[in-house]
Amino acid sequence: MFLIRVKAHWRHRAYGRHIARLAGRDPTASQIRPHRKGATMTVLTSSLLSDLVTEDLRRASVLEAYGLEYCCGGQRSLFEAATARGLDAQLVARALELPGESAPLRVTSADLAGLAHDIVDTHHAYLWEELPRLQVLVATVVSAHAERHPELKRILAVYDRLVADLDVHLTREERIVFPAIAQLERTQTPVRMRGTSFVDAVQRLTDEHDIIGDLVGQLRRITGGYTTPDDGCSSYAAMMLRLHVLETDLHLHVHKEGNILLPRALELHYRVGGLR
Ligand SMILES: [Fe+2]
Ligand SMILES: [Fe+2]
Repeated sequence: MFLIRVKAHWRHRAYGRHIARLAGRDPTASQIRPHRKGATMTVLTSSLLSDLVTEDLRRASVLEAYGLEYCCGGQRSLFEAATARGLDAQLVARALELPGESAPLRVTSADLAGLAHDIVDTHHAYLWEELPRLQVLVATVVSAHAERHPELKRILAVYDRLVADLDVHLTREERIVFPAIAQLERTQTPVRMRGTSFVDAVQRLTDEHDIIGDLVGQLRRITGGYTTPDDGCSSYAAMMLRLHVLETDLHLHVHKEGNILLPRALELHYRVGGLR
């Protein structure tokens, strides 16, 4: 089913821009920008992980490197999260004090539709394109190496479940919840939804984020942190690399929705008189 999903031209263009962002380049830049000196922000260990990333998206890479999950577990303080992993919180805080201009997430409380659109244009476009292609690669690696690496069959099973869950989840966001958020913002009145309430629809997405996070965590554990075995071929290594990129992208994706878009949409829903 996934292989026949949307392949429209705009999605390819969005995918290209998104990959450029993942590679650390500014996809809209036509020339190298001169370095601009900026004050380095002091990071407090009492800060929430989700707030740290929202203030400066570059910090997502730092937290990933330390193995600190900031999307579903983003409501923990840096101190709490670092200590739980046996890390020196002050050391991590210094690493998060990045020089130059910060790269805050472009969102204001009055721009929820814009944020939802950006998420679809970047993260969803990437997933619609990558999930089926990676599914073919994983299946190929399994058929070639499962005899010597039986854990590959578990990787395939978890990956297939992730693909199936994301298919339903992304579709629900694009067709039902994100349009409802845009309507809520545009009309400033509570949105009526068929067969459910706005609050329940948002809660359902949040529950699904937890399941997606758990599946990605399983992939990380089964692959030993996306490590290619010594006898792994180039396809094996490519699979691990692409699974790792998928994890990194899903963390940022779920952070934008679970820590920013959905809580702010709920806040607006209640502010304009919406009920539970
Ligand atoms: Fe999404
Ligand atoms: Fe989502």
